[in-house]
Amino acid sequence: MERPASDDNSPTTMMALVYQGPGCRAWEKRTKPTILQETDAIVRITTTTICGTDLHILKGDVPTVTSGRILGHEGVGIVEQVGTNVLDFHKGDKVLISCITSCGRCSFCRKGMYSQCQTGGWILGNTIDGTQAEYVRIPYADTSLYALAPESDDEAMTMLSDIFPTGLECGVLNGQVKPGDIVAIVGAGPVGLAALLTAQLYSPAEIVMIDLDDNRLSIARSMGATTVMNSSDGKAVESVMAMTNSAGVDVAIEAVGIPATFNICQSIIAPGGHIANVGVHGKPVEFHLERLWSYNITLTTRLVDTVTTPMLLKIVKSGRLDAKRLVSHRFELSEIMKAYDTFENASKERALKVVLKNANASS
Ligand SMILES: NC(=O)c1ccc[n+]([C@@H]2O[C@H](COP(=O)([O-])OP(=O)(O)OC[C@H]3O[C@@H](n4cnc5c(N)ncnc54)[C@H](O)[C@@H]3O)[C@@H](O)[C@H]2O)c1
Ligand SMILES: [Zn+2]
Ligand SMILES: [Zn+2]
Repeated sequence: MERPASDDNSPTTMMALVYQGPGCRAWEKRTKPTILQETDAIVRITTTTICGTDLHILKGDVPTVTSGRILGHEGVGIVEQVGTNVLDFHKGDKVLISCITSCGRCSFCRKGMYSQCQTGGWILGNTIDGTQAEYVRIPYADTSLYALAPESDDEAMTMLSDIFPTGLECGVLNGQVKPGDIVAIVGAGPVGLAALLTAQLYSPAEIVMIDLDDNRLSIARSMGATTVMNSSDGKAVESVMAMTNSAGVDVAIEAVGIPATFNICQSIIAPGGHIANVGVHGKPVEFHLERLWSYNITLTTRLVDTVTTPMLLKIVKSGRLDAKRLVSHRFELSEIMKAYDTFENASKERALKVVLKNANASS
């Protein structure tokens, strides 16, 4: 028997995870979203998840997110309703929600830089209400949703909303990982692990994974890291320099978002190397140009564009990439407060991606 879509059986309300200022979140009743523009779709969420960025938001690191915002920018769902100008999707279609909204028409979108879309970009769970809810409004549905086969695996697909395109685009592609490279990835969270899995598509010789969490490091080793280092002893830089005969690494991917980990990256980069920043930073870092000006290095930053999503969909479908490996915990959507507690205590809980299933939405 199907349960009602929200706790009071009202067709106009739903439950959602709401940011209530730094350190505060609540699972509360909200008005169900409606079509505001003719290019919008309303999607009934079947599966969503929590991102490291949501934790940054809760720490108060992302000032664009204001109190009252429904969080979440990842998920899979079923189209419930479309605006009159949505051409490619219809009620009942199963869709992947991209964390980046793209109008497809502005000068940035025309360059494939969807993250900088003048009326889109990262807006879900940031400047408009997001996916950690029973329903979400998706602007520019035709260019911000991806059609999924009805039999596709919700959990694997949810990993493609954000973390796999992020690890690949901001880490591996910006870092220009090449065959034979020595790559260091600082941060073995879901994003760092997604970088680890996608880096291997480019045949680097060695991948060193650095984190404070031994559980995540052992998972990294099982996913192909050739060396893992727990940096809690403060010796990661020394160890990387020793293992590279003082040369440093070709690519250093920063997947944490704090000064300490950016410092590791800039201390281990080899001449001619690439530092690819992925982490969302809430505080300034010190960039040591007094040393690095003569090193011929490249430093890149990027908000994920999700231009690689169609390619990732193909390699997951072909079996070349097992996206589901990053899922560690599963909860009902209504248990999302507990899921946040688990993700916030990732080390103790041995958590990677926590998946939320909406039992009220049969897919
Ligand atoms: N650029 C983008 O478009 C984009 C997109 C998504 C996520 N992100 C960012 O990527 C980063 C990683 O995301 P995630 O979901 O994997 O986050 P996460 O919080 O799950 O993982 C961060 C990892 O860093 C490790 N860590 C913390 N302090 C450390 C230290 N001093 N030394 C070594 N390791 C340390 C933690 O143990 C953890 O494993 C976050 O900053 C997130 O906001 C960026
Ligand atoms: Zn994210
Ligand atoms: Zn645009």
